[in-house]
Amino acid sequence: MNNSLFDLSGQVAIVTGTSRGLGQYFAMALAKAGADLVLTSRDRASLASFEKEVHALGRRAVSLELDVKNQESIERMAAEAEAAFGQIHILVNNAGCNVRKPALDVTWDDWNHVVDTNLRGSFFVAQAVARRMIAKGYGRIVNIGSVTSVFGYAGLAPYGASRGGIRQLTMSLADDWGKHGVTVNCLAPGWFRTEQNKVLYEDQEWVDYLIDRIPVKRPGQPHDLDGAVVFLASEASRYVTGQTLLVDGGISTGAMRATVNRPLSSGNKA
Ligand SMILES: NC(=O)c1ccc[n+]([C@@H]2O[C@H](COP(=O)([O-])OP(=O)(O)OC[C@H]3O[C@@H](n4cnc5c(N)ncnc54)[C@H](OP(=O)(O)O)[C@@H]3O)[C@@H](O)[C@H]2O)c1
Repeated sequence: MNNSLFDLSGQVAIVTGTSRGLGQYFAMALAKAGADLVLTSRDRASLASFEKEVHALGRRAVSLELDVKNQESIERMAAEAEAAFGQIHILVNNAGCNVRKPALDVTWDDWNHVVDTNLRGSFFVAQAVARRMIAKGYGRIVNIGSVTSVFGYAGLAPYGASRGGIRQLTMSLADDWGKHGVTVNCLAPGWFRTEQNKVLYEDQEWVDYLIDRIPVKRPGQPHDLDGAVVFLASEASRYVTGQTLLVDGGISTGAMRATVNRPLSSGNKA
């Protein structure tokens, strides 16, 4: 195995939504593999301490303002990123939000907020950055999906629709931009405790229920995503495009009991 397949030295990655949570995990993994970084938030000042952490690794980093619900903001961020580094090699389309509600309570505004942020936002960020990647003949775009890209969950209708859309968008963009040297894949995390969902993890009964359904018997930890994001951002994935890679401890296997709590060896035949 050639380790340079995973070496990102000399490459520049934009990771959107790096003020907290998974965006910071992705950014750190790419920086440790050698990449310089463009960090983004709607509040640029909130990136200051994380930018210092990236510099401490010996990588360059610039912090830019980005609101993915605003097309001008997207175009400005892409132009400033290019002006700062000359070339953008990698985009991790991570910025996102959620509204958890029973479907009957979802409002028009809830729907627009979630779908505009997660799906429309990801598309127009990809478009603005891909224009610049295509001009250089190289790019790796990693759209962040979710287990809800492939599974239905009550209480997550707009979110699931946006994440299912991300999976489909990934395939369409892969087909559009492959001929220009740009690959587009979807990294779909399972359940990771972050600001977005921390309230769920305060309920031990729910945590036990979750763990019971995850084949590796624990929720995700920050570094569980490192290998997948570096793979999809690097030369190692050069012939992989349009794919959705689930990093979820196996919960997307279905993880539904089919044996009514009795081991198969006890003759639990249909
Ligand atoms: N946590 C999980 O288990 C999980 C699983 C699968 C997928 N995901 C997805 O992974 C991504 C990160 O999740 P997370 O749990 O780390 O969420 P989080 O802690 O809430 O962080 C969300 C990030 O997105 C940014 N953001 C939100 N709205 C934005 C907007 N309109 N424009 C620009 N940036 C915006 C936020 O930045 P500012 O507020 O600073 O602007 C923040 O940095 C999300 O897309 C989420 O849906 C999460």
